[in-house]
Amino acid sequence: MHCVVAVQLVTLLFGTVLLLVSSTAADQTYKCAIEKREDESVCMFRNVVYTTSMTGITFKAPNAKVQHVAFEDSTLDRIPAELLNAFPNLRSLSVPNANLSSVVIPAKLERLYASDNQISQVIVHQTRDTTTMLELILDSNRLHDISNLTRLAKLEILSLSGNRELPIDDTIELGRFKGMDGLRHLLLSDVGAHDLENEQEVSLPALELLDLSSNNLPPTYLSVKVFAPFKSLQILRLAYNQLRDLDVLQLTKNNPQLKQIYLEGNEFPCKLLTLMLKHFKKEGIETPVANPNVRCLLGFDKEQGLCCMADNMNQRYASPVTPRIPPVSLATSESPAENTAVRTGAGSAELGTSTMSTTTMAAAGGPPAKTDDGYSMASMAPLGNSWLLAGLAAVVLTLMKMNF
Ligand SMILES: *[C@@H]1O[C@H](CO)[C@@H](O)[C@H](O)[C@H]1NC(C)=O
Ligand SMILES: *[C@@H]1O[C@H](CO)[C@@H](O)[C@H](O)[C@H]1NC(C)=O
Repeated sequence: MHCVVAVQLVTLLFGTVLLLVSSTAADQTYKCAIEKREDESVCMFRNVVYTTSMTGITFKAPNAKVQHVAFEDSTLDRIPAELLNAFPNLRSLSVPNANLSSVVIPAKLERLYASDNQISQVIVHQTRDTTTMLELILDSNRLHDISNLTRLAKLEILSLSGNRELPIDDTIELGRFKGMDGLRHLLLSDVGAHDLENEQEVSLPALELLDLSSNNLPPTYLSVKVFAPFKSLQILRLAYNQLRDLDVLQLTKNNPQLKQIYLEGNEFPCKLLTLMLKHFKKEGIETPVANPNVRCLLGFDKEQGLCCMADNMNQRYASPVTPRIPPVSLATSESPAENTAVRTGAGSAELGTSTMSTTTMAAAGGPPAKTDDGYSMASMAPLGNSWLLAGLAAVVLTLMKMNF
């Protein structure tokens, strides 16, 4: 009996000592295990804890051929230099949800997946001439300054969705992606953007998919001109914004490759939406609806599976500020709205109040309207959700222009 207790005690003590030793040990080796992922094999590290202050950490693979590395259930404040030294031929690296505050893109890396971290810094060890990166997935991070990325000229897929600190003055300037001439997919959903600009008319010649869904894109003045230089654009996602108007005629004219446009979750007046959908159909452009069974908010009706502002609702907002414009203004302005009406086969009388915003904006010279001192109306309009005020400003401007 005594003997058993003694043995247990010794075991316990020994165990405690071992535990103490291992948790304070300076040297720690993590070894990854090969796992099959689709058609590649990935070497997986699990339960890694790494902070900058740690020393003597070693990362190892079961064989020297490993080119794809992933981390799971790990916490790292940055990509360990020890890891990059151990895997000089790394082609893909996956470190999602690991509390990273920075990442390094080493030479030769092709794909980096680092969603759901705290990344605000990206250090790029590739130059424009040597770059090998093809895919960079950094959604749900804290990126603000992305100037280090533009040298990744071969990058094909870039996701920055969910980086709420990305807009500058609530605006995404598409010129920030200048030089990324290989970019095919650019994902900027849920970045908190209230407006879009492309001041230098930067072209992303390979861009096929642009995702701008779940932002706060404005009820007025989303100028489709910003997309015009993207001559390969096929898919445009604008769902879940606050758009009340869109110059669809100009859009399809500027972007003849367009095949799909996502529009649900906006604030288009129903009559206008009907015309827009008709126009897209005629142009052979799909308007997919992800959630056709969604229940529309109060004051919204449903049109072909899309919620839109009920016409009486729209009138209620529009009537105090939008007087009917006499038909003569349509005749004198080079109005895209007029063309829409003609080309979609609808009489202007049929357009009614709901297309007033299109008409007024077109009459104001097309979005973004400039005031005489050169400031964009969009920047004058109060930021946030005050589309009503923005609309008011637009109408006042329109009326001023029409009178002079
Ligand atoms: C995540 O990183 C921050 C510093 O960037 C640190 O303060 C925090 O404790 C970390 N969280 C975890 C769960 O490690
Ligand atoms: C850009 O890269 C440099 C080093 O190449 C680094 O010092 C800097 O912090 C990086 N900036 C951002 C915002 O990632």
